[in-house]
Amino acid sequence: MARLTVHTDAEEAALDAARRIERAARAAQAARGRAHVSLAGGSTPRRTYELLGPMLVDPGAVHWWFGDERVVPHDHEDSNYRLVADSLLAGAAISDELVHGVPTELGAHDAASAYARELLREIAGNGPGVPVLDLALLGMGEDGHTASLFPGDPALQITDRLCVPVRAPKPPSDRITMTLPVLRAARRAIILATGPGKAEALRAVLAGPDPAVPAGLIGNAELIVDAAAAQLVSA
Ligand code: 6PG
Repeated sequence: MARLTVHTDAEEAALDAARRIERAARAAQAARGRAHVSLAGGSTPRRTYELLGPMLVDPGAVHWWFGDERVVPHDHEDSNYRLVADSLLAGAAISDELVHGVPTELGAHDAASAYARELLREIAGNGPGVPVLDLALLGMGEDGHTASLFPGDPALQITDRLCVPVRAPKPPSDRITMTLPVLRAARRAIILATGPGKAEALRAVLAGPDPAVPAGLIGNAELIVDAAAAQLVSA
């Protein structure tokens, strides 16, 4: 899969991401009987989730996870669970037990520990206790963060935990995030970024791995962007 795909506009980028997720889920189901996909939060992926729901051939075998979550109730306007509920789940008959929401009612610390235990319980690993997602869909902030791994955050150095609580530099600050070992272990990782605000971060990601640019630390990520986000990328 090409590392960088530039689409004319955000709609085409959303459609490409939805199609790749659907195909990866179907391939995982064929190979292993089920699929495990982690989802990004924020605003960009909403359209992808709206398109993805109706595409799902067998929603009954895909488990949905959250790459990060804000520590708010699931019906809060800032909740990534609510984002997914209002988009992906509104377009497909997906039973609750397949949607692994972060137990934010436990508070950041206990929610992160509980989520890590659930990941280990539900997803086969590749050896030293790291569950292997079939696909991780990620976004990218204008500062180059991904999931809730922000530049300079000590969470970027953590290698012995799957999920950790973090204090984000932008509200809502209390979050939990999957760590780099989990995101890097995914069979596929897609970073979806659109709009001119992401142009500088994309340029930095393409310049090569840099601890100051967490989105560039995911390894073999497939980048799906629109022309506005790619405006600083040399042809
Ligand atoms: C979150 C996301 C985060 C997001 C970026 C981009 O919970 O906020 O997981 O990593 O993908 O901040 O957000 P936008 O799509 O809103 O630009």
